[in-house]
Amino acid sequence: MDNGAIIEVRGLHKEYRVKGNIIRAVNGVDLAVQAGETFAIVGESGSGKTTLANLILGIERPSGGEILFRGEVLGRKMSKDTRRRIQVVQQNPVSALNPKRTIKKSIELPVSVHGLRPPNQRRERVAELMDFVGLSPDFMDRYPNALSGGQRQRAALARAMAAEPDVIVLDEPTSALDVSVQAKVLALLMDLQSKFNLTYIFITHDLSVVRNVSDRIAVMYRGRFVETGRTEVVFAAPRHRYTNMLLSSVPVVSEEEEAVKPEWPWEQTMEGSDQASDGCAFAPRCPYAQDNCWAAQPGLEEVGEAHFMACYYPANGAADSRIDGPPPTGKIPTPHRAAVD
Ligand SMILES: Nc1ncnc2c1ncn2[C@@H]1O[C@H](COP(=O)(O)OP(=O)(O)OP(=O)(O)O)[C@@H](O)[C@H]1O
Ligand SMILES: [Mg+2]
Repeated sequence: MDNGAIIEVRGLHKEYRVKGNIIRAVNGVDLAVQAGETFAIVGESGSGKTTLANLILGIERPSGGEILFRGEVLGRKMSKDTRRRIQVVQQNPVSALNPKRTIKKSIELPVSVHGLRPPNQRRERVAELMDFVGLSPDFMDRYPNALSGGQRQRAALARAMAAEPDVIVLDEPTSALDVSVQAKVLALLMDLQSKFNLTYIFITHDLSVVRNVSDRIAVMYRGRFVETGRTEVVFAAPRHRYTNMLLSSVPVVSEEEEAVKPEWPWEQTMEGSDQASDGCAFAPRCPYAQDNCWAAQPGLEEVGEAHFMACYYPANGAADSRIDGPPPTGKIPTPHRAAVD
């Protein structure tokens, strides 16, 4: 992995025990995020994105593997300085801010906790932070419930910025917002990134959100990365069947885009199937699955420059997808269940 990584994750696992079952929320993730980049993690609900974020933030402890910040392994307890340098902005603009605190108090808290300004300069600092995120100082003495969703998300961002972080984990930062507000918050995020040389780990279930803002994308499925690569490569030439499926459902704006959009044999996709025993977790939903897909999980392999994917029967890439032909079996796969009901 690259030595310039600001955040590195090695062999990361997180298991939860729920009623005697083990849920492998994060199941062997490796990643290296470079300083100043936007690294997107995309996947459906339940794929483990927030768990991965919480591990990186030190909110949860890994069951296995390690996380490094600027080359140093994060121990059992993160130092105060490291905690300051890795901030988070969460999806829910309602619960993200304490309803009993004024906007000023919420934004000021990291400034005082980390001793970033003497008391007599804090009000001015809060005003400056609010200005960075496009919030009028009139909001200082208001409570979160007086703000719109977009304004709350700006306030949450100002609070994260108040800690003067190097990295911000954005966990579905725009998912709860109207589309027009979403675009403005995305533009603000990009503006702040270039001004303050921030590194973003951008989590979303919606590929179209990160298309224009991320440098690289990791597609996550059931606790694992199944494809990673530069954003334009993953969009132009997706290889993993799951990436294809996600992309085929992304709305496109032009005929040119429609022409290269992967096709997905939806009617053959099984909904809500059980997890494959030892095999590829996507096999139960994959029309291209063959016997070996049920036997062993494919590992990530390099298929192009900085482009990795884990599939035995990958797509050729979107440009070729129309000649990719029907699924090899031509029928809905039958789940091979190891356990007897
Ligand atoms: N504290 C917990 N205890 C038990 N199971 C958990 C816990 N947190 C997460 N899980 C389980 O781990 C898996 C991954 O959940 P996670 O919240 O990380 O997914 P996600 O990708 O963030 O989903 P979403 O898009 O809905 O936010 C899910 O099966 C979830 O039910
Ligand atoms: Mg989540």
